[in-house]
Amino acid sequence: MAKKKIRLGVNVDHVATLRQLRKGSVNYPDVLEAVTECLKGGADQITVHLRGDRRHIQESDLRILKKAKVAPINLELAATPTMAEVALKYKPEIVCLVPEKRQELTTEGGLDVVRYKNRVTKFIRRCHQAGIRVSLFIEPSALQVHVSADVGADAVEFHTGQFALARGARKTKELKRLVVAARLAHGLGLKVHAGHGLDYKNVTLIKRIPYLEELNIGHSIVCESVFVGIRNAVKKMKAKL
Ligand code: PXP
Repeated sequence: MAKKKIRLGVNVDHVATLRQLRKGSVNYPDVLEAVTECLKGGADQITVHLRGDRRHIQESDLRILKKAKVAPINLELAATPTMAEVALKYKPEIVCLVPEKRQELTTEGGLDVVRYKNRVTKFIRRCHQAGIRVSLFIEPSALQVHVSADVGADAVEFHTGQFALARGARKTKELKRLVVAARLAHGLGLKVHAGHGLDYKNVTLIKRIPYLEELNIGHSIVCESVFVGIRNAVKKMKAKL
């Protein structure tokens, strides 16, 4: 039987980063236009992270994307009551709960579901009541996977940052951690997603993760789009899945 294709969520945060670098004095590049191009390139969903500091995606982007109804939206949010209100207001297809630190360059490390169990449980309950699925962005650790299942998550998105950074034998070790955690997650009824630091090279190895249904990739695609345009950059990534 042919292997199922892995869904590609394209994270367009850095399209908005380019605009925000000019601190509101320009309104280009247009995020919706970029999204339309991503879809023409084969993107299966659009991923955006509305950060507390609004460094890239703004609520206005979310409003425009939601109104346009062009693609399923995977909305990455911190697990706070304020962000729960955002989720309920915009009702994306899925919310991905992520940790968030003000000073970080990008999302460093997975959400500690053990530490924030009560908060995450409440967030998930509110989303489920509104018909929104929830995934948890976690490290590939058995404990985090078990607690993700306990709190009622629909999916886990494994943080592939450590894998992306590792070299040589450590890379093999990181891949093994992902494989083991994916088997466990699947066994507990969780969908398996992954993302962070993935590029046109390392995605080939990541595909070995069993039960992998979805990858969310941003930075490398936006970087490639400088040379080939975002539609072709997405098409090139999609061809690898
Ligand atoms: N998935 C999650 C949960 C993320 O926080 C990010 C980064 O915003 C990504 C995927 C995409 O990571 P990258 O931009 O390194 O491809």
